Formats: sequence, C-alpha cells, structure tokens
Amino acid sequence: MKLNTLSSTLKISVLALSSVALSVNSNAQTFLKKHTEINPYQYEVVKEKTFAHAAVTSAHPLASMAGAAMMKDGGNAFDAAIATQFALAVVFPGAGNIGGGGFMLARKANGELIGIDYREAAPKKATADMYLDEKGNAIPSKSRDGALASGIPGSVAGMISTHAYAKLPLAVLIEPAIEYAEFGYVITEREAAGLNGQRANFLKNSSAPSAFTKKEWKAGDTLYQPELAATLKRIQQKGLAGFYEGETADYIVKEMEHTAGIITKEDLKNYHPKFRKPIEFEYRGNHVISFAPPSSGGIIIAQMLQMIAPFNVGAMGANTEASVSLMVEAQRRAYADRAEHMGDPDYWKVPTKTLTSNEYAQDRMKDYVPGVAGSSKVTQAGQVHESEQTTHFSVIDAEGNMVSITTTLNDTYGNKTIVAGAGFLLNNEMDDFSVKPGVPNMYGAIGGEANAIAPGKRMLSSMTPTLVTVNNKPYISIGTPGGTTIPNQVYEGLVNIIDHKMTIKEAIDAPRFHHQWIPDMVAVESDFPETTFNALKAKGYTVTKRGRFGRMDGVLITKEGQRNAAGDKRGDDSVAGY
Ligand code: GLY
Repeated sequence: MKLNTLSSTLKISVLALSSVALSVNSNAQTFLKKHTEINPYQYEVVKEKTFAHAAVTSAHPLASMAGAAMMKDGGNAFDAAIATQFALAVVFPGAGNIGGGGFMLARKANGELIGIDYREAAPKKATADMYLDEKGNAIPSKSRDGALASGIPGSVAGMISTHAYAKLPLAVLIEPAIEYAEFGYVITEREAAGLNGQRANFLKNSSAPSAFTKKEWKAGDTLYQPELAATLKRIQQKGLAGFYEGETADYIVKEMEHTAGIITKEDLKNYHPKFRKPIEFEYRGNHVISFAPPSSGGIIIAQMLQMIAPFNVGAMGANTEASVSLMVEAQRRAYADRAEHMGDPDYWKVPTKTLTSNEYAQDRMKDYVPGVAGSSKVTQAGQVHESEQTTHFSVIDAEGNMVSITTTLNDTYGNKTIVAGAGFLLNNEMDDFSVKPGVPNMYGAIGGEANAIAPGKRMLSSMTPTLVTVNNKPYISIGTPGGTTIPNQVYEGLVNIIDHKMTIKEAIDAPRFHHQWIPDMVAVESDFPETTFNALKAKGYTVTKRGRFGRMDGVLITKEGQRNAAGDKRGDDSVAGY
C-alpha cells in the first residue's frame, strides 16, 4: 500500500527540511544520509515479507526500518529493538513512547532468556484511595485524564537496561528517532485522525499547546517534534540522567502542576527496571516463553493453552462453534484467576507455580461440558474499551536472537498530557490498578487487593510479549496491543499457527474473539463468521460484535531458516529486514 497524497507533500517537506537542518544541527541526518533507502516523507506499508537474515515488525514502517537498519549496520536484535522503541515514540505517538513503560522479553541465540520489566510504578505519594471521592466511589476520569493518572515512566530506563545486550552505541540507536522528530515525517491517515480526535483533550490536559495541536491534520502532512528531538538528544548525550534528572525531569515535574499530578524528582531518580524470570511451558511440542507478573499475560496464556491441550482443536477448525466455545471456557477460567490472584509480585504473593501448572489447568477444566455455555455469575458488567492503545514489536536477527517487546501509554495517547518543553506524552497507567475492589478499569477488568495501589508498586498488566522455540531452536516472536484482550489475542494467534496450521500472516489477520470472565460475554470482531456467531448465541452465550481489536505483529523462522515477518492488517503495521 502506498500512502496517498505524498507527492505534493514531498516537495514541501524537503524544503522545510533543509532550513531546519541548517538551523538546528550541523551534524544533521547522520542516520538518514547513510540510509537513503529510508525516506520519512515517502514510505510504504509492507504487510508481509520473508527475509534471508533478520526482520522487524512494528506498528509503523519508519520504526521497523530504523530497527532493520541497525541490524544491517552490524547490530543485533537488541540494537534493533532499542532503535524501534525510540522511533515509535516519535512516529507512533499514540502508543510508542518514552513517557510510558513496557516489557522486553528476549531469548539469546545461546538460549539465555531475559525479561526486563520497565512497567511504570506508582509515585511515592500514591495512595490506595487516590481515585475515590469522599463517599468512596471511584472517579474514573481521575485515573485516566491528566498527569494524576501517570505512573513513573519506565521506557527510557528499560531501553538503557536492554542496551547491555546490544552491540552498537546507544547514541547511534537513538539517532533515527531524533531525526524523525527533528526533520519531520509524513503522517498517515490513521495518525491524522487520531491527533485530530484528541486535539481538545491535548489542550485541556497539557499546560501548553504542542507539536500535535498546531493544526487540523490530514494524511500526508509533515509532523515536526523539535521539543521531543531535544529530549531525545539529552538522553543520547546523558543516558538515564538525560531523562530522569536535569532539564527533562524539571519539565515533567513542572507539568504535574497543571492537573494535580504527584510525580516528583525523587520518584524519577528512584525508578528502576526489574529483571523477571519468564514464564515457560509446553504446548504440543512447542516451548512457549512469555512475560511474568506484573504482567498477567504469560500466566494467562500458559493456563489457557494447557486447558485446551487435551482437545483436538485442529480437527475442530478455526473459529467454529466447537473450537471457540472450548477456547472461551478456558478464557473465562484464566481471567477469573487474573482478577483474584495477580498483581505486582513484589507486593503480592502471586501463586505463579500453581497457576501455570498443567495439573491446575486440568483441574480448572473439570467442570467443562463441551457444547454447554458456562456462566461467570455476573454481578456487574463493564464495557470493553475500544482503542489501539499499547504497541508491540518483534525482532529476530541473523544470529537467532529473538526480542519481543510490548510497550504502552495505556490508553491511546496516554493521559493526553504532553510535557511542555519536553514534547512527549505521559501515560495513564495508574488506571490499570484496581482503584477500588470490584470497580472495572477502562477495559472492564476488575481486581482486588492483589492489584490495589501502593507507592512504588507496578500496576497489573495484560501485555504478553511471547517467544516460541521448537527443539530448543528459535521459532516465533509475537505479541499485540489491546488491553485485556492481549492474552486472548496471543492465545488465538498461537492456536492458529500451531493447531490450524496457518501462516503467521493468516494467524494474525484471522477474526478474533474475546471473553474476560466479567463481563460474561463473548466479544467478536465484525468479520467473525456469522454461522459461529449464531451457533454460540444458540448455545446460550451472550455474543456481541465490536470493532477490530489489537494489532498483532510477529516474525517466524521458516523451515528454510528465513525470517517470515507479518504486520497486522488492522493498522499501519509494517515489516522490514534484510
Ligand atoms: N495498559 C495495558 C496493559 O498493560 O495491560
């Protein structure tokens, strides 16, 4: 797919580029000059391609190309991942970020597993009742809009920790992001719609207008982000201190005043990523590796895949009544456990060993009766939130190192606060805590004590960056955005590949379904088979159609050893490699 309206924009952009280049940076465009194959003013979305050596797939072509360029230049999958994360913060501002957090899961070619938790943390001044009114009722807007909704950002620290496994200097890896921000890039129709849709919220929640609020955007316009470029340069020059201290920290703390935020300089300076031992389990000869708490994702997919393992899902067919009802009953049981048992393991004893054991999975399915709709005994229901929040990218390099990263601001464009002077969006990850037991968050998910707010605590996540090996050899790197739908999407994606023998592209694009215990309903995408929709209803399920959810991206190593990369049809997701 070629972006429309680019030819006229191209001329305008190139003129603007030369004047900015002269005035801002005498060493301008070290990355773009070297990589003339990358043109931020005219680029294509590539949905699927098989590469001989290495591949990246992410939510934006320019971010994937930045990652691939690093591997061409001698870097490995970690270099690519760092360049991609920083580039996404510029070219995919709705979810790519430096003001949010995420999880980095990797398997080195030598088999070593690495899980870096750079999830946001609650500020020191946070309290369990901070989003309740005087009567003890939750005020949802307080945990979603403005700086009070922000956890302490973890992405920059996460990438700097990841750099320990990379080959190229950090300064080189940040350069594509800096150049995209400084010299601009052409935005897609989807981005233009996103920015226009949030303009009023950006102006309300931020202390000053920003690069995003300058105009009514249309596809093909060039977005320049000079303040973000300057922030990225401070990180490039000073590392952690370029974000968590000094000028950037000053800007963040100053921005807190506008909407009663509570992040302090001490909070920023004390933020640290944490290493987490990945969740590992077997599924039909595949070794699946995923993220541990404070993400619920790895445990949930371990539970669901083991629950359905005794059944011949392949013979049931993809998206048939038989396979979907079985898979939904596994979803119901796993998500019920999520609400009760999962939270930040440094604050709550998560029974990970039991929850991920095959014995427990089979025990949970003892009351499963094929063809009979279960019940969650619903006492209250929440709405499934529809947005493209969060983003995922996958990398596999020539050596066989695999990286899978899911990163987020939570809602699309986070809490809609752009830090004045620093040019980046802040997250509203505090809403992922259980603000009050039994009160649903923006995804309709409920929780209790395990996920209550406490200073320094990480909020429970659903992000599920996942890797698969077969016979101890690298095979798949996969993941997706989509709030509480994430574990279900990854589960369905893996079943599509492993049981239904789909290609990775087919698996990613197939219609999805989602059940999360409460509300007790199956949400299906609009292109979900009508016959299955009706058959599920006839069985007694509440089934609702909703818009598309998720933007799954993955890379799979073919039998010939090539990298088959696929980007979701649902977004501007695009692959790159060599
Ligand atoms: N903010 C979405 C998640 O972490 O699950």
